[in-house]
Amino acid sequence: MSLRSQVVGCGGYLPERIVTNEELARRLDTSDGWIRQRTGIGERRIAADSELTSDLAYEAASRALQRAGMSGSDLDLIVLATATPDHTFPSTAVKVQARLGMKRGAAFDVQAVCSGFIFALATADNALRLGQARTALVIGAETFSRILDWTDRGTCVLFGDGAGAVVLNAAPLEGPAARGVLSTHLHSDGRLHDILYVDGGPSLTGTTGHLRMEGREVFRQAVQHLSEVVDEALAANGLQPSDLDWLVPHQANTRIIDAVCRKLGLAPNKTVVTIERHANTSAASIPLALDEAVSDGRIRPGHLVLLEALGGGLTWGAGIVRW
Ligand code: UT7
Repeated sequence: MSLRSQVVGCGGYLPERIVTNEELARRLDTSDGWIRQRTGIGERRIAADSELTSDLAYEAASRALQRAGMSGSDLDLIVLATATPDHTFPSTAVKVQARLGMKRGAAFDVQAVCSGFIFALATADNALRLGQARTALVIGAETFSRILDWTDRGTCVLFGDGAGAVVLNAAPLEGPAARGVLSTHLHSDGRLHDILYVDGGPSLTGTTGHLRMEGREVFRQAVQHLSEVVDEALAANGLQPSDLDWLVPHQANTRIIDAVCRKLGLAPNKTVVTIERHANTSAASIPLALDEAVSDGRIRPGHLVLLEALGGGLTWGAGIVRW
């Protein structure tokens, strides 16, 4: 029997503290005007000192499970995407597993930076379709504020903290219009490591390090690869851009999102954009945007939703979901 991974709940969590562009402009040589015009960002959330990635992940996961009418004991699998784990090891996923009261199955992290949610979704979807698990929780959670160089105006203004999660259930595939994940498409190119990386790590320096980025080159690569992978995902399913109800992109820069929409010929009002309030929350940005658009009724059952992201590695990917 063919199976498809249906989304049965989603949830998001943002830390309480809001840091506006104006607040950053008081300590850095930057301005609200520059940040808004070049990125679309107006403010970001920053985790409290006591708040860890696993805490944000747990809150988002609890909300997703509640919406699905489930508890941790219903889960077989947790795949958590993060580049800012609580510890070098064990994974942040096992901490969430314990807090959710999930005592069976498996929980692990995947690391594809800003593309992490798509990579985690693909991993869980594959496990569900193969019958390795029946119910999976996919989480994107980050505390990027901990790896930013707060003196580097070229990077520290761009990111925020947060978490989002979806619950997937394996269901029999009933015809081509069945709800669920239609396909996922993953790519990476390690030759582009040096344009977006962290300059520390357990093996390299024994310290956590700080994010470094050649923004202009990442921008150029993002528009090119995202357009390609979106085309690939549509072609794999015999779809046209006009078939899509929503594009839910990774939220790195409104100019990247607009450029991809233009290349696709997709109307901007079919795009879910949260960057103004969330900034770039890396692996959390797509599930946070999904949670917002599902909660406010924009994304409804039966809608065709395209997800896409690009991040350090470089990594990039896309997925199409019939909601
Ligand atoms: O999520 C992972 C993927 N990441 C991305 O997709 C990010 C992709 N890159 C970008 O979004 C953009 O390249 C940035 C937002 C990072 C930068 O925008 P840009 O239009 O590419 O600016 P730039 O780096 O070419 O810099 C233009 C100018 C420079 O000054 P000069 O050399 O022209 O005098 C920068 O020093 O803007 C300056 N600048 C700033 N000015 C005020 C850089 N950061 C700031 C700042 N405030 N925060």
